[in-house]
Amino acid sequence: MINQAIIPLAGLGTRLLPLTKSFPKEMWPLGKVSILERILSECLSAGIKEIFLIISDRKKIIKDYFESDKEFEKKIFKNKKALQQLNILKKYKKKIKFVFQNKPLGLGDAVNTCKNKITSSHFLLVLPDDVIINSNCSKELITAHYKYKSSVVAIKKVSDRDVNRYGIVGYSAKNRNHLKINQFVEKPTIQTSPSNYAIIGRYILSKKIFKSLASKTKGKLGEIQITDAMQNLLISNEKFTGCIFKGKYLDCGTLDGYIKSFNEVGKN
Ligand code: G1P
Repeated sequence: MINQAIIPLAGLGTRLLPLTKSFPKEMWPLGKVSILERILSECLSAGIKEIFLIISDRKKIIKDYFESDKEFEKKIFKNKKALQQLNILKKYKKKIKFVFQNKPLGLGDAVNTCKNKITSSHFLLVLPDDVIINSNCSKELITAHYKYKSSVVAIKKVSDRDVNRYGIVGYSAKNRNHLKINQFVEKPTIQTSPSNYAIIGRYILSKKIFKSLASKTKGKLGEIQITDAMQNLLISNEKFTGCIFKGKYLDCGTLDGYIKSFNEVGKN
């Protein structure tokens, strides 16, 4: 059963400074709810029961947001509507746990902070920069995991210009919207890229990934990359499937992307 998820939130948000200096972008609204709540609801509707939110001391505001605040509730207790709105957060409270990553050493290192928390053979990893609307991408990946008995990553074809922004997969076979992956490369140049299929932030990973991350080998940008750890697992015969997901991808990792995404959800 896939019932645990990891959401890394300890990044410094450098692409969106100064806006992210004291208010994490994951808390920014996207339509009527925050980016993070959209991601959490996707996880819960995909059947996830326990979610590890990786934060840092700088991002304690995320923990405060979900924690109940009796003093504040007392102040607004006469305002039923306000209380009702506040109580929306309660559905997440029991499902989320906070893990701290205080040195931003990369996505691979963030995932590694949960190595002793994952109890089943596979888990879901969701990156909050990548919002996917209109279809539950995590659910699609879980279905593909059971079908192919493999690890799975969400993928999408990107333009030549964009391959150097993403982890890219190479593949040996394609069955409709599923690829049999035979290579992972983090942010290649177009000349060295094995394809135009980019990894978008949803992964079903085997617990074996933690062994692969243990070496703490630094990759692109001097960071410990999850893509490199997946490539190592692939070499040691772990099966990986790429799932071309049905939903619409909203890139919230850049300011332009966020503004476009906000306008897009406003249409719904
Ligand atoms: C991360 C991953 C990359 C993936 C991307 C998806 O990169 O390292 O492989 O394609 O997320 O958004 P980042 O956006 O943190 O640079």
